Amino acid sequence: MSTVDQAEIAKFEQMAHEWWEPEGKFKPLHEINPVRMEYIRTHLGGSPEADLSGLKLLDIGCGGGILSEALFEQGASVTAIDRSETIIGTAKAHQMESGSNVDYRMQSAGQLAIEQPGAFDAVMIMEVLEHVPDVQAFLAECSLLVKPGGKLFFATLNRTWKSWLYAIVGAEYILRWLPRGTHEFDKFVRPADLDRDLRSVGIKMRSLVGISFDPLTMDWKLSKDPSVNFMGHGVKG
Ligand SMILES: C[S@@+](CC[C@H](N)C(=O)[O-])C[C@H]1O[C@@H](n2cnc3c(N)ncnc32)[C@H](O)[C@@H]1O
Repeated sequence: MSTVDQAEIAKFEQMAHEWWEPEGKFKPLHEINPVRMEYIRTHLGGSPEADLSGLKLLDIGCGGGILSEALFEQGASVTAIDRSETIIGTAKAHQMESGSNVDYRMQSAGQLAIEQPGAFDAVMIMEVLEHVPDVQAFLAECSLLVKPGGKLFFATLNRTWKSWLYAIVGAEYILRWLPRGTHEFDKFVRPADLDRDLRSVGIKMRSLVGISFDPLTMDWKLSKDPSVNFMGHGVKG
């Protein structure tokens, strides 16, 4: 099984010009990013307000760079990779405006692991696993990049009836936050399967939380309910 599905990449290439439009097709990523940063800062820096200076981080499947830029803003040294030239072009074009120093590369995790094995304090895989054909093979490449004792952060969609209802029927067909066909239910990831796959590549899961939409405040927050969107991290043994 392959670690990349070109048809999945093509879906994102078609929307890439909208990556940095707050009301565009990537609106959900813009909205959940502060919550993802809160979790990452807590588990890398010790508090939700911690800065990330001195840390060497890798963002795999960075897309237009929404997370990569936020990590850089908190002081980290950031490398960010994606499998599409077009999408990396979008990230670099935005970087001309932001002035950030993120090292964006069109490269696979496997290729980078040959160049820089075990080089990163932490590796981010956010909203990527649900677009990958063979999660275990992909995680094996990602794990090679984490230094011993370093952390791997992930965020993805659970495979439950509720995520089918919310993330596909709700977000794609009713609310139209995302184009129809963005997500395929069969590719959603059960936490127990992820735990098993992470262990098989030398990473022990340390925490798992939900990212939930609160219809009262119309805002996203970290929660104890991982049944739709969830994120977490593990440590490389
Ligand atoms: C939903 S976007 C997430 C972007 C970014 N991680 C974020 O959360 O802001 C998914 C990204 O994963 C990339 N992608 C899909 N499969 C990949 C793979 N096997 N290796 C690296 N990137 C991949 C796509 O090109 C796309 O840019």
